[in-house]
Amino acid sequence: MTETTTVRLVKRPSGMVTPDCFAIAPEPVRAPGDGEITVKVAFVSLDPAMRGWMVDRKSYIPPIGIGEIMRAGIVGQVTASNAPQFAVGDTVTGWGGVAQHFTGPAMLFTKVDPDVAPLERLIGGLGMPGMTAYFGLLEVGAMQPGETVVVSGASGAVGAVVGQIARIRGGTVIGIAGGAEKCRYCVDELGFDACIDYKTENVDQRLGELIPQGLDVYFDNVGGEILEAALNHLKMKARVVICGAISIYNSTDVPPGPRNYLNLLVQSARMEGFVVTTYAHRAGEAVAEMAGWMHDGKLHFREDVQVGIERFPEVFNMLFTGKNFGKLVLKVN
Ligand SMILES: NC(=O)c1ccc[n+]([C@@H]2O[C@H](COP(=O)([O-])OP(=O)(O)OC[C@H]3O[C@@H](n4cnc5c(N)ncnc54)[C@H](OP(=O)(O)O)[C@@H]3O)[C@@H](O)[C@H]2O)c1
Repeated sequence: MTETTTVRLVKRPSGMVTPDCFAIAPEPVRAPGDGEITVKVAFVSLDPAMRGWMVDRKSYIPPIGIGEIMRAGIVGQVTASNAPQFAVGDTVTGWGGVAQHFTGPAMLFTKVDPDVAPLERLIGGLGMPGMTAYFGLLEVGAMQPGETVVVSGASGAVGAVVGQIARIRGGTVIGIAGGAEKCRYCVDELGFDACIDYKTENVDQRLGELIPQGLDVYFDNVGGEILEAALNHLKMKARVVICGAISIYNSTDVPPGPRNYLNLLVQSARMEGFVVTTYAHRAGEAVAEMAGWMHDGKLHFREDVQVGIERFPEVFNMLFTGKNFGKLVLKVN
């Protein structure tokens, strides 16, 4: 029987995750039950949301139970199938777990074409984070050609795609990222109009200098002080897209919300959150358009590939220290 190393949650973290929150050990691969498949996992997607799933609270998805495999997006090949829609050898993406082999319900997986892009991209720019950028900007943010878009977490999996789509759609784009190298990447390689280094610059002041006319769409990936700074620069009828708030995901004492939210009232603006899975039924249209932009050289992706399932806790924390540069994935086989 094949053995597989899995990462199971054994303790709920307080603050940043620590190695003792997880049991990382080999175990037999479970044969698929009725309607299930087994996937040999190539890459595990490491996403900030996974931190939220470790907390025992009501959310858009149940928390991971103690003793359960850490839930994660995965891409890999089907090695055993007990579901008519999948055959051995199919390449699939879907909701699996941090494991070298994962057995679970076939309904959580989609067959993908491995020739479209490198496998890790199918769980990145052409996967969940790419869909988040596409629908968050164009549907929730209702971005129109010629508008001014500000995006935080600008060099990351979601933010980099948001900024590029906004440029493709004829907008002016200001990124906000941590460090000179990430800002240079956004401007020189992704074509943003400017990027603010929030670690060394005053975001509020720089937004005033760069876009005195204000912003039409603020795409928020980080929350906290940066959200508050952006709320000072709303145009009339601006849209604030609440995609995430990574600056508070590890906080044990969550700070009070933005003090200046009444700017929404003054500017007749709106702030709206969303969960990407709402748009799952429209993934095909987004993938088709984004793959087209990629092949035309208009949309660029960057993956940060780390190797070794046993490194999961340390690699996961890179998301919260800003050590990742691009979509963070873990190669596990
Ligand atoms: N709503 C949805 O359905 C949905 C779906 C996917 C993702 N998201 C959200 O989208 C956001 C970005 O996710 P991602 O996968 O694209 O991650 P990512 O941007 O690739 O990686 C996380 C980045 O966040 C930045 N960061 C970490 N701590 C920060 C802090 N205290 N203040 C400001 N920036 C900080 C770091 O970049 P710097 O070096 O620039 O600080 C880090 O590299 C997250 O909030 C995530 O939860 C939401």
